[in-house]
Amino acid sequence: MFSKNIQNLKTSPVRELIPYSKKAKDSGIDIIHLNIGQPDLETPKEFFEAIENFGEKTIAYSDSSGQKELIESIKKYYQKMNINYENDEILITAGGSEALLFTLMTLFNVGEEVLIPEPYYANYNSFFAMLGIKVVGIPTKFEDNFKLPSRDVIESLITEKTKAIMFSNPGNPTGAVYSRDELLMLNEISKEKNIFMISDEVYREFIYDGKDTVSCGTFTDNQERIIIIDSISKRFSTCGARVGTILNKNKDFMGYILKLCQSRLAISTLDMIGAEALYRCLDEKYYQSVNRKYMERRDFLFEGLKKIEGVVLNKPEGAFYCIIELPVEDATDFSKWLLGEFSYEGSTVMLAPAKGFYQREELGLNKVRISYALELDRLEKAIKTIELGLKKYNSR
Ligand SMILES: Cc1ncc(COP(=O)(O)O)c(C=O)c1O
Repeated sequence: MFSKNIQNLKTSPVRELIPYSKKAKDSGIDIIHLNIGQPDLETPKEFFEAIENFGEKTIAYSDSSGQKELIESIKKYYQKMNINYENDEILITAGGSEALLFTLMTLFNVGEEVLIPEPYYANYNSFFAMLGIKVVGIPTKFEDNFKLPSRDVIESLITEKTKAIMFSNPGNPTGAVYSRDELLMLNEISKEKNIFMISDEVYREFIYDGKDTVSCGTFTDNQERIIIIDSISKRFSTCGARVGTILNKNKDFMGYILKLCQSRLAISTLDMIGAEALYRCLDEKYYQSVNRKYMERRDFLFEGLKKIEGVVLNKPEGAFYCIIELPVEDATDFSKWLLGEFSYEGSTVMLAPAKGFYQREELGLNKVRISYALELDRLEKAIKTIELGLKKYNSR
């Protein structure tokens, strides 16, 4: 009765844990959510002020391509990084999620292949399944902090059905950041093999130790094939505002995306007004203050986790995630057990089993993804809970 593609949708890595977390919550246990990638920092006041000052009597449809003032502000935000896009090379979408969906809908026929370093953001799978896109995982190594393999390895995975290489940088779920050389290698492959490059840069400012993220928007020799996916969700702690962006210089591609934008008429006018104020009013100072907070959390988490016997992890370089290896055979079972049977001082921890982020699930069996978008005191308690939980779990 229902479409084959919809029946192929994979469940999200945390979905199978939800009944367990509900039960724990109902029994009064406080759950520390290390499973959700939602920044806890306050949304800057400029967002709310702009909406309060909205002077119209009617909330009308905005342009399908996005509010003009917002596009102008985004253009300027990119210009500050020496990246130049014209207004018609920027389209506003309902979050980065819609930007991804529209991009994939525009590029892929059923059965065509996307090359993607694994592990990768699990929600990509829903889009791939919905559109009948075949995923070809580029192998990376946990021990190597998820660096890209050599050009030969990547090229050996390309077939006549390969349409695009896609990745998030900084990476969800790995916290890895690609170097300029790694990105230049992908750029060379994209040019030589004539395949698109979908660069999901929604975590662009979340990069630590004084480094800068290299945006693929700077590779001016391949702009027709480079599609940048962006969003305000993480940058400004506005996940509920649903404002994303597609940037690209290929007129045909952007023409098709615009048609899709027109088919859903418009996105939320008020969210775009708030987003415009954020891009216009906030600058380096804001990004740096947010960055400092996340780096402090990253350091705290890394130091705390690496002291736990049997836990292995790399120091995340960006975003606010990391994958950790646990001294257990089945990290999903351990995650369920934590929710169902363990608590420390009235709290327990919800983890995201890593197997759902891998195409080859066996690679993630003993791993979990942790999101550290939480205050230090919550992280401290979470680390203690994991440590004591592991001891008890392994001595049962
Ligand atoms: C890598 C990556 N891309 C895109 C998104 C989509 O975010 P949004 O639709 O809120 O912009 C997320 C959200 O977590 C993400 O982690």
